Amino acid sequence: MQAFNIVEIGKGLESWRQVELPDPTPGPGQVLIRVKAVSLNPRDLMVVSGHFPIPPKEKAIPVSDGAGEIIAVGPGVTRWKVGDRVFGSYYQQWHNGQFPADAELYALGGPLDGMLAQLVTLPQSGIIRIPDHLSYEEGSTLPVTAVTAWNAVMESVPRMNPGATVLTLGTGSVSLFAIQFALACGFRVIATTSSQGKAERLQSMGVSYVINYKENANWQEEVLRLTNGLGVDQVIEVGGTGTLPKSLESVRSGGLVTLIGLLTGFADPINTSPILFKKIRLQGAGVGSIEMADVMAHTITALKLKPVIAEVFKFEEAKDAFAKLQDDQHFGKIVVRID
Ligand SMILES: NC(=O)c1ccc[n+]([C@@H]2O[C@H](COP(=O)([O-])OP(=O)(O)OC[C@H]3O[C@@H](n4cnc5c(N)ncnc54)[C@H](OP(=O)(O)O)[C@@H]3O)[C@@H](O)[C@H]2O)c1
Repeated sequence: MQAFNIVEIGKGLESWRQVELPDPTPGPGQVLIRVKAVSLNPRDLMVVSGHFPIPPKEKAIPVSDGAGEIIAVGPGVTRWKVGDRVFGSYYQQWHNGQFPADAELYALGGPLDGMLAQLVTLPQSGIIRIPDHLSYEEGSTLPVTAVTAWNAVMESVPRMNPGATVLTLGTGSVSLFAIQFALACGFRVIATTSSQGKAERLQSMGVSYVINYKENANWQEEVLRLTNGLGVDQVIEVGGTGTLPKSLESVRSGGLVTLIGLLTGFADPINTSPILFKKIRLQGAGVGSIEMADVMAHTITALKLKPVIAEVFKFEEAKDAFAKLQDDQHFGKIVVRID
């Protein structure tokens, strides 16, 4: 089979090499998947740049997100059959409940082999059914950013009621999925973006207010104005230390800031006094359990939600696809189709 391998950590995309590998066979409890599409995440680049805390195994197959069709099952597989359409869970050992301390050791796309290959084997417990109304390309967008957004918006305790206001930052894929889930719950969404064209697309999705964070550097003041000075109930914080101080100003007293990303940095000092004085709940969220992914997939089916895809590339163009992910011009997921 054709696959990509990570041949040297620390060289960015230079580390990706297209290689011919022996076809895998499913062991006990495993399924063999013909991968039809993968989608890309900033994390995939962090892994090959040596910026992810846990390095991949030697000659690992890159890319966490992928979807395909089961073409064979190993001994003892009872939950799946040939022909089933599935996506892989990013965390292979976080089945449900609390986040296990060692979960990151069993993540697809490093440390474990990822999905950028024509064939992969996965345990029957580590895959989720693709909603019937979604294509493989759309199914490939679900494992990382959709589950992260689901976890942030839907699994926060206490749950918010319809009418709550959620603030999203930028139009990365986490934010777009968070907007879709929030709107489906009857929440009001305020979003930021740097682009007029993207602002129009956000409004057409149902976002109530869009603020241009480039033109309006003090966007938190606009958020407060739009919420009668109270602030929003939840911020989906993908920016990191560059945006966190403004997110803390934007959230209401007792509200929730869910820290997910680090687009603007992660190590700068932060004034923590608003957290204390406003009694803000600041919570990290990263992807989610297999159970969360499964419930999310059922909800996407029920609501007929469609992931937003920016562009689909061919297998041989996987490195070009990554350049597209980095240019910040995209609106939605970057997908690589595998024929
Ligand atoms: N914790 C986890 O498990 C987890 C899971 C998934 C992702 N993440 C992280 O979450 C972040 C977002 O991921 P993604 O896949 O959604 O990224 P993405 O699709 O690459 O996001 C790119 C977009 O981010 C927006 N952006 C950049 N700088 C910004 C700023 N200063 N303020 C507001 N928006 C800004 C831009 O939106 P506009 O073009 O609209 O301005 C840009 O188009 C990344 O840091 C990623 O590593 C973490």
